[in-house]
Amino acid sequence: MRIAHISDIHLFCSHCIGHESILNKRLIGLANWYLRRRRKVDFRILDIFAEKMQELEPDVLCITGDIVHLGFRGEFERARKWLKGLRSICPVKIVPGNHDAYLSECIPRIKKSLGDFFSIKGAEISGKAALEEIFPVVDVDEKSRVALIGLSTATPTGLIHATGCLGEGQIQRLGGVLKDLGQKGLFRVILIHHPPIHGCVSKRRGLIDLDGLEKLVDKTGAEAFLFGHSHKRLVAPSNGNLSKRIYLNAPSITSISKDPVKRAGFFLIDIDRKDGEWNVACKDFTLGEKQDSFISGKDHFWSLCQ
Ligand SMILES: [Fe+2]
Repeated sequence: MRIAHISDIHLFCSHCIGHESILNKRLIGLANWYLRRRRKVDFRILDIFAEKMQELEPDVLCITGDIVHLGFRGEFERARKWLKGLRSICPVKIVPGNHDAYLSECIPRIKKSLGDFFSIKGAEISGKAALEEIFPVVDVDEKSRVALIGLSTATPTGLIHATGCLGEGQIQRLGGVLKDLGQKGLFRVILIHHPPIHGCVSKRRGLIDLDGLEKLVDKTGAEAFLFGHSHKRLVAPSNGNLSKRIYLNAPSITSISKDPVKRAGFFLIDIDRKDGEWNVACKDFTLGEKQDSFISGKDHFWSLCQ
């Protein structure tokens, strides 16, 4: 199975504000956008990325959250249009991030505009269920024996916080899902917005129930985590026989930072099973200097007996 992984799009445009109130947390978000952030992003990268997807033909594109920036209705409309365009190239699976749930009024918008991208099957989400009740959302590819397990950490937070939370119920259901898929011998890939390991972000931006998640996954097992939020690329471990699991943190796909750790990029992950062994190869693509193409960087390989 070939997976493309991107994160943290933060779609925003001044027209997106519309007639909505900004006398709330958005005031700080807008000040930050105009004073700082807008000089560090370029949404034209999304067109270059779409072209690259046509060339690389992944079986699925996984997007690990923060699809919109400040949760305006216009941003969600723009995000839906963008996702539909990508879905005409390949199946798409997303999980929400903290910016998608910027204010509590964004939760129904996530479900309405983005809900049918939670699963590659494209089922629409209806009803009043909270996000943490909808997730985990599981897609199993029987041919490759790879399972994609989407989690939601998206929850509205206070003014200067960007924390995430899975909640006891979601962690408990995840335990059942991982156990079941593990017994079937599937390769389990977890999609989550907030980093599932310590040290990637500060406590004020971290996952509240990280200890609970770590404890659970150590018990049930999982082969890989795809995540975002930190806007910094990370591949761990770099190579080798896989004794524990793979952690891939994608940078923001719209970043034009000169810092190679923060510059826009994506992962292309090939997972294959041969002679009782899983072989995983990951190519790390980075936005080129001229900002008109993606350049293939370091290759990573792992093998795992299961
Ligand atoms: Fe985030």
